[in-house]
Amino acid sequence: METALRDKHILLGVTGSIAAYKSVLILRELIQAGARVTVVMTSSARQFITPLTFQVLSRRPVYTSLFDPSDEIRHLTLAERADLILIAPATANIIGKIANGIADDLLTTLVLAGRAPLVIAPAMDGDMWTHPVLQRNLSVLDGLGVRVVPPEEGPLASGKEGMGRLASEEKILSAVQNRLKRNEDFKGETVLMTAGPTQEPVDPVRYLTNRSSGKMGYALARAAQGRGARVLLISGPTSLPCPVGVERVQVRTAEEMRDAVLRSLPEATVLIMAAAVADYRPRRSADRKLKKGLEPVLLELEPTPDILSEVRLQRGRRFHVGFAAETEDLENRARAKLEQKGLDLIVANDVTQEGAGFDLDTNIVTLMDAYGETTALPKLSKAETAERILDAIVKLKTRPRTNDRIIR
Ligand SMILES: Cc1cc2nc3c(=O)[nH]c(=O)nc-3n(C[C@H](O)[C@H](O)[C@H](O)COP(=O)(O)O)c2cc1C
Repeated sequence: METALRDKHILLGVTGSIAAYKSVLILRELIQAGARVTVVMTSSARQFITPLTFQVLSRRPVYTSLFDPSDEIRHLTLAERADLILIAPATANIIGKIANGIADDLLTTLVLAGRAPLVIAPAMDGDMWTHPVLQRNLSVLDGLGVRVVPPEEGPLASGKEGMGRLASEEKILSAVQNRLKRNEDFKGETVLMTAGPTQEPVDPVRYLTNRSSGKMGYALARAAQGRGARVLLISGPTSLPCPVGVERVQVRTAEEMRDAVLRSLPEATVLIMAAAVADYRPRRSADRKLKKGLEPVLLELEPTPDILSEVRLQRGRRFHVGFAAETEDLENRARAKLEQKGLDLIVANDVTQEGAGFDLDTNIVTLMDAYGETTALPKLSKAETAERILDAIVKLKTRPRTNDRIIR
């Protein structure tokens, strides 16, 4: 418990929720675990609890205003010093402001100015929690790599029962520790990633493709970059913006993806093939748009290059991760792919399950590794699934290559 937090600068943001008194307990736990905590309160939070309580317990000044006269630009110095920003409790209001880049007080301004990881623990009335706008804002934050500690179900301040109680101090502390532990654990690695679908042309206006949105691959790219890796992302066509700090090459066909992967391969220490590469392409693509007619058209297909088999020959000590999206017999098929392609890890998902697969913000995956271990993850956001996949890579990479490895 102590190691991840010892001597870390934690900025604890407290907002105007009825659960604000619980941040006193969170502050105490953080301090007991060895952290140096500075508290920033919104003006609504001061309606619920006084700065004095936090000041006495943290033995540091409590900041409440953006415009206090001082010789430093407070939001910048506080943001720079923080190893992590924790907002607990986080109101619906602050979630909406952060998701939309609003910076109209000290806490929201330093969140925008800071680059430290952000963990938020929402607390609110059940109807606020289920409101579509709040849920949309949360998925924006999730997509930006913010760790959200979900609230719990139980009696609420309104007297009703429902979802919205602040998560337990234990859960919040463990989320903070996990986020800190993951910080910088990919420093020195160059992660080469593929993501999204490919498009195989039939004629100048038509193509064969699949339902991949690229969301899982982009979440992985963002997470690896956040953990200190240099990330080279070879992306098929998607509407997703390139994550900040990631170097992206955009391609269209399986052939172009193969060429781009082979070009960057010598630089990579980890290869993650998350793209849904087309297995087949039209043998011939017409130069001109095919005219509509009454006769059936026969499309002859040929296999596309098998990128994973090709790169296997040049693996060396590079760590290889593949994905298997299946609709039946998931574990057997995924394990067969792990073996055939000589992978270190495969991420398998049954895309017929509710909450898993294409174009969703959640996923349900099973991790299978070259040592014969299988770990089924629960339904998680794609951002958290990405973090768990990276955790598994870190664990396997540090494991000595002993005889218990069943895939070579
Ligand atoms: C008694 C009371 C309790 C409140 N509890 C919450 C809450 O738990 N969660 C929430 O999102 N808003 C709650 N609010 C509303 C917020 O205080 C309000 O939206 C405020 O503007 C939040 O400001 P802040 O995000 O800057 O702290 C509560 C308001 C009152 C009067």
